[in-house]
Amino acid sequence: MISRLTPRLCEPAAQSESIFLKQVADSFGKACESYADAARLQQQVALTALAMLSANHSGKLLDLGCGPGWIHPELKNYCDEFSAVDLSAGMLSKARSLHLATAYIQADAAALPLATAQFDKLFSSLMLQWCQRPEAVLAEAARVLAPGGQLVITTLVQGTLQELQAAFATLDSRAHTQLFLPEAELIKAAGTVSQVNWHFEQRNYPLYYPDVKSLARELKALGANQVAGRSATGLTGKGYWQKLAAAYEKHRTAQGLPASYQVLFITGTKNAS
Ligand SMILES: C[S@@+](CC[C@H](N)C(=O)[O-])C[C@H]1O[C@@H](n2cnc3c(N)ncnc32)[C@H](O)[C@@H]1O
Repeated sequence: MISRLTPRLCEPAAQSESIFLKQVADSFGKACESYADAARLQQQVALTALAMLSANHSGKLLDLGCGPGWIHPELKNYCDEFSAVDLSAGMLSKARSLHLATAYIQADAAALPLATAQFDKLFSSLMLQWCQRPEAVLAEAARVLAPGGQLVITTLVQGTLQELQAAFATLDSRAHTQLFLPEAELIKAAGTVSQVNWHFEQRNYPLYYPDVKSLARELKALGANQVAGRSATGLTGKGYWQKLAAAYEKHRTAQGLPASYQVLFITGTKNAS
């Protein structure tokens, strides 16, 4: 998964954030055709999250970080109409080809070009872990939600890909995977947004792979494969892969090589006044 190539909000913060956003958008753009077939975790998580929204056919919904829109046929059970936002032009155009949303908007979730208090429901699955300023994203989510509106957000937290991280750690001390924040940091970020009654629930989703290359292939198909220092570390070299595979083997179970995904479900309702 893409490492945070730039430290979180170091100076010049705005410039490094915009470079990071472009890297994320490009990476997901390249994966827009392969994403849906590889998204077995994303589908489980998003369908579980969607069931947390009240199922009625009324109101306006926002899908924040919509990806290729594979879930859009389901959204009609939860609203009258919905809008879709994504940072990646490629992902958004894939979603647009379904012609299901009222509007498709290319934007950063931390700075939404959307009017205040216009949505009754906000849904966002597995986007927040790509955002350097979760507090800004949560504030924007709360801003665009109408009073009494409901919000369901999922994200990956610390512990995700811990087996892969442990295998890399036997080879060198570089950060080879994205930094996943601890649940406590997200709770703290949400605490800065006082208009919402937040609720948090963490669940582990273990996935199993025949070998480490299958895991790497899946991450690539999802657009989540870029690793900091890839060329510098010779990550693609045969010797490096063999050592990584040998280190990962220590985690093997009867079901295959495990990869943990720690998912945080963040739900809430915006205060009525
Ligand atoms: C892992 S995909 C999830 C897609 C979809 N929600 C799903 O559950 O399958 C993450 C999506 O978030 C988008 N994304 C990442 N950072 C974003 C940001 N700052 N603002 C808006 N979208 C962003 C990516 O372009 C990508 O389409």
